[in-house]
Amino acid sequence: MAEVDVVIMAAGKGTRMKSKLPKVLHALAGRALLAHVVDTASQLQPRNVVVITGHGAIEVEAATAGYICAGADFSINFARQEPQLGTGHAVQQALPLLGDDGVVVVLSGDVPLTQADTLRQLIAVGGGDKLALLTLELPDPTGYGRIVRSGAGEGDAVQAIVEHKDASDTQRAIREIYSGIMAVPAAPLRRWLARLDNKNAQAEYYLTDIVKMAVADGVPVVAHKISDEVQVAGVNSPVQLAALERAFQQRNALSLMEQGVRLADPARLDVRGSLQCGQDVSIDVNCVFAGDVALGDGVQIGAHCVIANARIGAGAVIHPFTHIDGEKLGVTVGAGSLIGPFARLRPGAQLGAEVHIGNFVEVKNATLANGAKANHLTYLGDATVGERVNIGAGTITANYDGANKHRTVIGDDVHVGSNCVLVAPIHIGAGGTVGGGSTLTKDTPAGALSVARGKQVSIANWSRPLKKAKP
Ligand code: UD1
Ligand code: CA
Repeated sequence: MAEVDVVIMAAGKGTRMKSKLPKVLHALAGRALLAHVVDTASQLQPRNVVVITGHGAIEVEAATAGYICAGADFSINFARQEPQLGTGHAVQQALPLLGDDGVVVVLSGDVPLTQADTLRQLIAVGGGDKLALLTLELPDPTGYGRIVRSGAGEGDAVQAIVEHKDASDTQRAIREIYSGIMAVPAAPLRRWLARLDNKNAQAEYYLTDIVKMAVADGVPVVAHKISDEVQVAGVNSPVQLAALERAFQQRNALSLMEQGVRLADPARLDVRGSLQCGQDVSIDVNCVFAGDVALGDGVQIGAHCVIANARIGAGAVIHPFTHIDGEKLGVTVGAGSLIGPFARLRPGAQLGAEVHIGNFVEVKNATLANGAKANHLTYLGDATVGERVNIGAGTITANYDGANKHRTVIGDDVHVGSNCVLVAPIHIGAGGTVGGGSTLTKDTPAGALSVARGKQVSIANWSRPLKKAKP
C-alpha cells in the first residue's frame, strides 16, 4: 500500500457561526471539531498530516499541537492559505509538504464524524492510482457538488463534479453528491492543481475540477458511495453543530447500551470524553461525563450528575445532583461508597471503600479511609481522614490561613461532633472525640474528648426586655 498523507482544510471563516472562535475550534462532545478530524486522520497511520489554516491561523495552529496523542509517529505541519481562494487553492498550499509517491486524503476540519474505516475503504477503492471520491445520495442535494456520470446507472463512469452554483437544471436534479472527501495519488494531483482556474460562478479555485482533468488524462475516477450522512456532515452554524452533537451522543449511548450499560434515557446522556463501564452499570437521566471516567461493576449514577476525571469503584452509588471533577489530580471513589445527593468531590479526593459523603459536603485534596463518613454540610480540604471516622454535620477543616494551605490529619475511629472547626495544621488522635461546636487549634491526644467552646451558662428566671410604649 502507498503511504498516506492527509490534508485537512481549515482555513475557512465560518461566518455563520457568528463567533470570535475559529469554526474548527468549536467543541463537539467536549473536543474541538478539528481535534476529531486529527484523531481520525491519525488512525490511518499517515506519514504526514498537513492542516491548511487561514482565518484564526495562530489560534488554530496553537490548539492543534495539543490534539496529537503521545506516541504518534507522524508529524503535523501547517500551511497558511491567505487569502482563501477556494478548496483547490487550499490544497495547493500543502503541496510543498507532500511527497510524490503517496496518496493524499483530503478532509475538512469542520466535518468531525467521519470514521477511519470509511476512509480506509476509500483508500482501498482508489488502489493508490485512481482518484477516489466519497459520495452519497441525498434527498435534498442543494448546495453540494453533484457527481456527473456518463449515464444514469451506478456503474456509469464518473465524468465530473459540478458545483451547485455552476450546475444546469438537469445536473441539479442529480442526487449523488460529493462529500468533500477524496483520496488521490499525489503525483497527478500536483499536475492537476497547477492547471486549475477560477472561471466559475464563485470565482474560486475548485478542488473538484481535478475530476475532469483525471478523466481527460485517462486516470480512473471511482466513487465510494456511503449512506451514513452523519459521517460527511459539516458544521456551518450553531444549529448544525447541535444536530451533530446529538447524533454523536446518540451513537455513543447506543454503543454503551450494547455493552450492557442501562441508560434511563439514551437521549439524556452526554459523554464528552471517554467513559469506561463495568458490568451492570446504570445511569439515570441528564448525566454529563467528561474527561476520563471509569465506572466499576454495579455502579449506579443518579439523575443530574456531572462527573469528570474520576474512577468510581464497584457497587458505589452516586446519588442525584452530585458534581465530581478530578481535573488533573483525579478523584477516586472506593467500592460500595455512597455519595450525594448534592455532594461535590474536587481534585485529589481519594475515598476508600464504603465511604459516605452526604448532601452539601465538599471534599478537596483529601483522603478518606475505608468506612469514613461525612454525611451533611461539611468541608474537608487538605485532610487525611482515618478509617471509620464520623464527621458531624457542619464541620470544616480550616485549611487556609490567608497565605498558606495546611493539612488536617484525623486518626482512625475519631468521632467529630457537629459544627466543629478544625484549624490546620492539626492532628486529631485516633479514637478521640471532638465535642460539638468546638474550634480546635491544637493537636489532641488519642482517645481523648476534646471540647473547645464557651461553657454553657443558664440564668434562672430571665425576663426578656419589653417593648416601650409609643409616646
Ligand atoms: C465543497 C465541495 C463540494 C462538496 C462540499 C461538501 C469544492 C469546490 N466543493 O463545497 O463539491 O459537495 O464541499 O461539503 O470543493 N476551505 C479552505 N480554504 C478555502 C475554501 C475552503 O480551507 O479557500 C475549507 C473550508 O474551511 C471548509 C472546506 O474547505 O473546511 C470546504 O469548503 P466549503 O467552502 O465549505 O466548500 P463547499 O462550498 O461546501
Ligand atoms: Ca465555498
